Amino acid sequence: MLSSSNTFRITELGCSIGPNTFSVMQHIVEALKEKYKNNIPEFQIFFNDHVTNDFNTLFRSLPIDRSYYAFGVPGSFHGRLFPSPSIHFAHCSSAMHWLSKIPKELLDKKSPSWNKGLIHYIGASNIEVMNAYVAQFEKDMEMFFNARAEEIVPGGMMVLISPQLSEHLLKFFGSSLVDLVNEGKFEESLVNSFNVPVYFPSIEDMTKVVEKNDCLA
Ligand SMILES: C[S@@+](CC[C@H](N)C(=O)[O-])C[C@H]1O[C@@H](n2cnc3c(N)ncnc32)[C@H](O)[C@@H]1O
Repeated sequence: MLSSSNTFRITELGCSIGPNTFSVMQHIVEALKEKYKNNIPEFQIFFNDHVTNDFNTLFRSLPIDRSYYAFGVPGSFHGRLFPSPSIHFAHCSSAMHWLSKIPKELLDKKSPSWNKGLIHYIGASNIEVMNAYVAQFEKDMEMFFNARAEEIVPGGMMVLISPQLSEHLLKFFGSSLVDLVNEGKFEESLVNSFNVPVYFPSIEDMTKVVEKNDCLA
């Protein structure tokens, strides 16, 4: 799997600014050193996040005693980030649930998916709202997998970790906004036009998107 340069390339997709990202990367590097103990490679770690991420803080917080070369890679992981094929291990934790955008039907008064008075599919009695989120999640994951399929070397590995649904938090946040509307503090149209762009996939959702994608066969 490693090229003659004996460099092992890891990417952390949706790294934010630390510190979680550093402890995860350290564990991965330690495990790989153990695996390749007879010929320990050099490690390159590519920290990826949106261009708006605070990469300065990330770089300033890099562990001093790290045993890898660190790089920043700005851009959305829903598209290509690396040459093909160059990555040996891709890791993404608590980031995949962010959708690339809000499905536009949620904002369309004429659509059955119009999410009036709510900010998420949590609490929506209308199944069309949930379906719109699922459809966007499936499109995003298809782009994610297609990009990684080009970038990851044959025999490489990908680990994706998705958080559990923060149902209560979203419900409280939504109902607080509705309270503010009822108190006349702001317009109802603002709540109607705001939807949190996160979808928390179930195991079945993830199985479906993986099985559907030919690149992962
Ligand atoms: C909750 S933080 C998780 C940070 C870190 N992985 C951890 O486990 O602590 C989610 C991060 O994913 C990033 N993110 C969300 N969508 C992304 C995308 N399409 N491309 C790159 N980064 C993304 C966000 O900007 C944010 O920094």
